[in-house]
Amino acid sequence: MEENARYAVGVDIGTNTVRAVMGKFGKDGSVSVVGYGEAPSEGIRRGRVKELSTPPKAIDACLKAVEAMSGINVNSATVGINGSHIGSTKIDGMIAVGVADHEIDADDLRRIEETAIAGKIPANRETLALVPYEYILDGQGGIREPLGMHGARLEIRANVISALTPDCDNMRKIFENDVAQVGVHFLEPTVTAAARSILTSRQMENGVGVVDMGGSTTGVAIYDEGELQFVGVVPIGSNDVTNDLATVLKTVPEVAEEIKVRFATGRFGETDKDIVIKRGRDEYKFSRKEVDEVVEARLEEIFEGVRKMLKAAGYDKRLPEGLVLVGGGSKLRDIDKYASEQVELAVRLGKPEGILGVSEEVMKPEYAAAVGLMMIDATDEMETISGDSEKKSKKTKKSKDASGESWLQRILKNFK
Ligand SMILES: Nc1ncnc2c1ncn2[C@@H]1O[C@H](COP(=O)(O)OP(=O)(O)OP(=O)(O)O)[C@@H](O)[C@H]1O
Ligand SMILES: [Mg+2]
Repeated sequence: MEENARYAVGVDIGTNTVRAVMGKFGKDGSVSVVGYGEAPSEGIRRGRVKELSTPPKAIDACLKAVEAMSGINVNSATVGINGSHIGSTKIDGMIAVGVADHEIDADDLRRIEETAIAGKIPANRETLALVPYEYILDGQGGIREPLGMHGARLEIRANVISALTPDCDNMRKIFENDVAQVGVHFLEPTVTAAARSILTSRQMENGVGVVDMGGSTTGVAIYDEGELQFVGVVPIGSNDVTNDLATVLKTVPEVAEEIKVRFATGRFGETDKDIVIKRGRDEYKFSRKEVDEVVEARLEEIFEGVRKMLKAAGYDKRLPEGLVLVGGGSKLRDIDKYASEQVELAVRLGKPEGILGVSEEVMKPEYAAAVGLMMIDATDEMETISGDSEKKSKKTKKSKDASGESWLQRILKNFK
């Protein structure tokens, strides 16, 4: 291992596939991927852990591939959490900080976060992040960074990202056991992790949404004025398109998947040529019209779900940078054109970029979350990965550190 090298690991537990990426962070700010791996996922339903016994095997297989490629042992990682229970809640709060010339310090920021959160997040939910939009000091609003400023009365407006506590506990359990043997450093919603690897700070400033369309979930994250404004997950994904095709066309899922990947598009009614698939000596013929109808019905349901979230967040038809699609489901031909019509916004396809090393392999839309998790893993004090089998203490709540920076500000400063 290179002396003083900093390594970080992200693991995305998808419903279809577990993916892990290890990055090496140079002193010059460069990021290179030194290992990656994937394994078929088991025991996950609609993004959530449905049993504790099988996922550790997939995690172990995936991380063994990463370790073999990089030559470095993995003892801890930042891990994605997914499912329709993930949500964001707007909060506000106020504290008196003392006499008029009191200088706002890290303790004041911690105290106002605690005060603002108190009683607003149900007891069965874990706070994953607190994202401040604005501080108001003695009535003066629009402050992003109050640390060091003087005042007597401090107010905050913020967004709290939370998930059901049992889901968070289950996610830790599938890593922190005798089979996988990995400590969970941070838990991060997979869609905000994906956003981390594909969005620029300009897009986040102007207003942009990320849609991570996986096998059985479609995550939505909205950024504006540089901050995360909303996160939600629609519990439907691209596997539902495959399953519908199998049911309606009365064929097996493997053939339905081939129809979807090779022939389905987001431009319906363009051709009426029959679809022919050969398997060994068998030949299957399907009506293009029927395939179009099935695919369109599911995509409509998915993007109606996305649109509902845009509306709930107050961003319907109101995102200057539009939506960026990632995840395996975004590889369906012309899905961006279909989505754009449905949500009435500009839509483009995204994938992680600007990373060195064995990176072409991870510069794919389905790796966006794992790459983002790896980057987030590098934002706290680094852990020694190689050789050291002792697990460090876990930390999942990302709010402000002693310097008063939000986790997002910290990430941007470190890696932009
Ligand atoms: N070329 C392609 N064309 C269309 N669909 C594709 C293509 N490649 C993969 N997919 C679809 O992408 C889906 C898997 O995406 P992904 O690997 O992002 O899911 P996941 O992360 O495991 O699931 P989730 O995020 O829902 O838990 C599958 O439904 C698969 O059929
Ligand atoms: Mg996924």
